[in-house]
Parts: sequence; structure tokens; C-alpha cells
Amino acid sequence: SNAKLWGGRFQATNEEWVDSFGASISFDQALVLEDIQGSLAHVKMLGATGILPEADVSLITEGLQTLMEQAKNDQLVYTVANEDIHLNIEKLLHDLIGPVAGKLHTGRSRNDQVATDMHLYLLKQVPLATELITKLQTVLIDLAEQHIHTVMPGYTHLQRAQPISFAHHLMAYFWMLERDKGRFEDSIKRIDLLPLGAGALAGTTFPIDRHLSAELLGFSKPYANSLDAVSDRDFSVEYLSNAALVMMHLSRFCEELILWSSDEFKFIELSDTFATGSSIMPQKKNPDMAELIRGKTGRVYGDLVGLLTVLKGLPLAYNKDMQEDKEGVFDTAHTLEGALTIMAGMIETMTVNVAHLEATTKQDFSNATELADYLAAKQLPFRQAHEIVGQLVLFCIQNNIYLADLSLETLQAAHPLFEADIFTVLQPETAVARRNSYGGTGFEQVKAQIHEAKALLA
Ligand code: ARG
Repeated sequence: SNAKLWGGRFQATNEEWVDSFGASISFDQALVLEDIQGSLAHVKMLGATGILPEADVSLITEGLQTLMEQAKNDQLVYTVANEDIHLNIEKLLHDLIGPVAGKLHTGRSRNDQVATDMHLYLLKQVPLATELITKLQTVLIDLAEQHIHTVMPGYTHLQRAQPISFAHHLMAYFWMLERDKGRFEDSIKRIDLLPLGAGALAGTTFPIDRHLSAELLGFSKPYANSLDAVSDRDFSVEYLSNAALVMMHLSRFCEELILWSSDEFKFIELSDTFATGSSIMPQKKNPDMAELIRGKTGRVYGDLVGLLTVLKGLPLAYNKDMQEDKEGVFDTAHTLEGALTIMAGMIETMTVNVAHLEATTKQDFSNATELADYLAAKQLPFRQAHEIVGQLVLFCIQNNIYLADLSLETLQAAHPLFEADIFTVLQPETAVARRNSYGGTGFEQVKAQIHEAKALLA
């Protein structure tokens, strides 16, 4: 027979490549603590239900605890011949306590075991993600509070549109992250289901107590259907999807940081601690970290699409294809942790070029809406006001001046409703201050928004 733990019905050993192609130990060793944790609960349940005698339960438990300690100290040595983390641990347990180790797998299959491990893994990763999101949100609020009155150009189509508060721009990302956090938090109720006890697919003949296992492992309840329990990877897809949304948001922000730190914008300067140089051009200060977050967003999308694609044609229940669920999830967890951490540090340490930002809003036409609104507030139909201001903008472009440079006579010739107070209205600070509708960029609104955001985090 084949020397494998499952080798009983085999007469020949596997072809070259089969072991290495089929093995997952190189990556699923990341699940070692979860795997042992699951086994500890399982054996306890086997004892409590009288399926295994207490003497065996004690031996197995002590062995598993020893392995747990060794795992924490990185002392376990795995082999590809033992395929995956589950069989490696079983083999190591056997080496430690002898044949009684073989009783651990009573009433269990690797199919419910591996799904349990992934649930336990994500029950740790999701709170980590929400914690890191909260840290980044805190950094955003802190910076926003310093820049409520910093005026910057707001854009649509990457064309100057209307002046806004820099804090308002930062806070836009706070709210995106708030939704991201909500999605992660909501996903917990679908990760918080225990597959263990589903067996290979159909349940088991042993009088197991799945509710006890769930309680021991801190789950609310077991899956109600054993086939679903071992086939479900929705919770992993959902994690990847939630992570992909965070990355998309970070990537958009990074795109802005990259633009803003260019000589063309000069809105910010990244700290030396988060920038890199060029091996040839001595003057360079490159936003590598922002570019990498933007770039790694592609890899997280890849992990998501990869898993969805693996799953789409699978008949129930377990198929070995499902072993492909892990690397993407681990990769995304690692990428997300790095991206959120880097992002918080980058924002916290960057310099905002306040004077340049404010000067730049005086050299554009982003106050054109102010002129149109001014006339409309005096009951000129907005469409007519728009047309008149459009012509004034054209006049300015042709004469190489800005709207605030126009004389009152010129303005009044365009429309008699213009009066001297128009010049205050044209100031970018006034333009921002007056946008005081709920959720707008008006300074008072931004203060209220920050107040609301702080209350959420408290
Ligand atoms: N390494 C496997 C995986 O990650 C564990 C489950 C294997 N089950 C099986 N019947 N071959 O999917």
C-alpha cells in the first residue's frame, strides 16, 4: 500500500509531480493555529459526547497543545508528502503520541475541517481590517481638522470646477471607508457559522454535538445543511469583495496623492519616510508607496475574480478545485494590511502646501458658478445667468484675465443686476463658505461633518 495517510486502497505510489501539484502545505501552513484550535474543540466534543474515552481525549489534547506551542514558536517541520496542513498536523500528532492520534479524525473529514479553518482565519482577519480602517479614518479626521479653512480647487473631469475645503476632500474618503467598515462588520454574521461536523458532505453516524463544537470555537451556530457547509466559499468571496472595495478607494486616493505631489499640482509633499529616490535622476522623489497601493489593487481584484471563477462550475459538494481558495485570500489579507497601514502613515506625515493651494484657486474660473448663482438669486432665470457668465468667461480668456479682474462697469454691462458686493462673492473663501447646504463644503458644514464622524468613531 501507498505510505499516505489515505493509502489503504492504493497499490502504487503517485507519479512524479502529483505530490507537489496536489500539495497545499506551502501555503495552508498559514492555517496551523486555526487547524489545531479546531481539532482541540473537536476532540473535546468527542469526549463530551462519549464518542471517545476521556483517556484518549486527554492524550490527544495534550499532544495538540504541544503542537500548538511548537507552531507558535515556528518549530513545526512540514512535508509535501503529507500534502496539507491537516494531514501534516495529524502526522506530527502521531509522531508525538502514537496510534491514538488516529482517533482525532473520528466523525470529521478534511472537508469540514478546512472550511472551519478558513472561517476561523477570517474571523481574525475581518476585525484586523476594521481596526486598520478605523486608524486610517482617525488620521483623516486629524488632518481634516487642521484644514477646514484650507481652500483648494475641486474638480470634475479633472477640470477645475468649484473651490472646496481641503478637509471636505479628505472627509469624502472617511465616508467611503465607513461604508467599507460596515460591509466587513456585516459579513461577520456569515463567517460566524461553523462547518465542522458536516463530515465529508453528509453528516456522520457518530452522535456528535455540533452545537457544542460551535460553542467551544466561539461560533453562533453550525451550518444547517452539511452539503452547504462544505461547499460554501461565499464568505471568502465576500471578504475578497469587501477588500477589493477598500483597495479601490485607496487606489483612487493614491492616484490623487500621486497627482498632487507632482510639480504640475504641488498640492502636497510626501514625507521622506514614505517616498523613494531614483537610481539615476538625483532630483527625484517618487511616490512609490502610493503607486504600489494603486498597483496592488489589481492583484486583489485578481484574487476576487480568481475565486469566483474557481467556484462557478463546481458541482456539490467538495472538489479539490476549492483548495485554490486559499492563496488569494491570504494574499489579499496581506496586501490589505500593508495598504491600510502605509496609507495611514503616508497621510499622517505628508505636508499640505496650504499657501500654494489657496493661491491656485485665485487663478482659475472655478468661481464662475458664483457669478451665475448671484444673478439667479436676484431672480434672473439660471439658464440666462449661465449664458451671460459664459460670455464673461470667454471675454476673460480672450483678454488673459480672471473673473475677479473684471471692472464693475464691464460686469454691469453684461447685466445690470451686478453690484459692488460681487467682488466678495467671487473670492474662493466666500465661494466655499456659502456652500452651506447639508453635506456641502461650507466651513460650518465641514465642521459639523467632522463632528459627526468623530461621534461615529467614539
Ligand atoms: N487541502 C485541502 C483543501 O485545502 C483540504 C481538503 C481536502 N479534502 C479532500 N477531500 N481532498 O481544500
